[in-house]
Amino acid sequence: MAIAAIVGAGLIGRAWAHVFARGGWEVRVWDPVEAARDNAARLIEQSLHELAQHGLVQDPAGAARRVTMVTTLEDAVGAADYVQENGPETVEAKRDTFARMDAIAPQAAVLASSTSAIVASRFTESLPGRSRCIVAHPVNPPHLVAVVELCGAPWTSADTKTRARDVLRAVGQVPIEVKKEIDGFILNRLQVALLTEAFRLVHEGYVSPEDLDHTIAEGLGLRWAFMGPFETIELNAPGGIPDYCRRYVSWFRRYMQELPPASVWDDASWQNVAASWPGALTPEAIADKSLWRDERLASLVAHKRIAKTYSDR
Ligand SMILES: NC(=O)c1ccc[n+]([C@@H]2O[C@H](COP(=O)([O-])OP(=O)(O)OC[C@H]3O[C@@H](n4cnc5c(N)ncnc54)[C@H](O)[C@@H]3O)[C@@H](O)[C@H]2O)c1
Repeated sequence: MAIAAIVGAGLIGRAWAHVFARGGWEVRVWDPVEAARDNAARLIEQSLHELAQHGLVQDPAGAARRVTMVTTLEDAVGAADYVQENGPETVEAKRDTFARMDAIAPQAAVLASSTSAIVASRFTESLPGRSRCIVAHPVNPPHLVAVVELCGAPWTSADTKTRARDVLRAVGQVPIEVKKEIDGFILNRLQVALLTEAFRLVHEGYVSPEDLDHTIAEGLGLRWAFMGPFETIELNAPGGIPDYCRRYVSWFRRYMQELPPASVWDDASWQNVAASWPGALTPEAIADKSLWRDERLASLVAHKRIAKTYSDR
């Protein structure tokens, strides 16, 4: 049985352990903090049982049995085929952990990082095994949101990219290739572009934050749950994407002359928008609402699994 090592067992590490255990892999989980290890064992098992209720995990008890908490980094990565690192989001921590993992892990193992914003070239350059290092950036929570952004450093080998992609596909994720390093990768750049315009529209008084959210949740986001923006516009004009562009680019050119300024993110501006959001939640209420979000996501993922996609028909 293939072995996945999960290094760092916080929010994201636990979800990766779930993904690999559900996918039939043996999983070895390490975190330097004892309390984090103790918590992780319980929370991973709990999440496997929760998703089984939505039909998303076939044998939760069997999957949980494939997860072992270990007390040293050596025990986690020493026999691994694939390593997913989920430690603190600092260059120093990534550099240190990757140097240690590169020294211990079997030559053939892929070393992947969950980093949200640090490109691999910033923490792998001096490593003897740098060609097997790659970023595999998940979206929270990765056991429910399948996309993973794969982004190599200039020295990451083609073989590493292919193997990382194949492993992630085999455990049910949807890897996408970021062809060259860029700050924020793809998903967060799209998110920031949308958020910047959203904050501007609210700050300048064009719309309330609640109505802006309705525009996505009951509008753009409905289609985006199963098709991307290119597929969306292809169906918005009888002649497909070229026809769509011919019809609408003159508007788009005008909008682009009024791009939101970077001052949208000045403290006074974003604080003004944040203050207009009703019912600011306590941390307890946010934790509670996150459980509700995960339940809704699980139902949506279950629906997507059984729904026929256009290409299946
Ligand atoms: N939270 C998100 O939404 C999200 C999404 C995508 C990617 N990420 C990335 O995933 C990584 C982990 O984020 P998180 O949200 O799980 O953080 P977290 O704070 O929940 O967990 C981090 C864990 O790392 C452990 N740790 C501390 N030092 C370590 C070391 N030297 N080696 C290994 N583990 C160590 C901590 O004890 C903790 O349990 C970060 O790089 C983050 O940018 C986070």
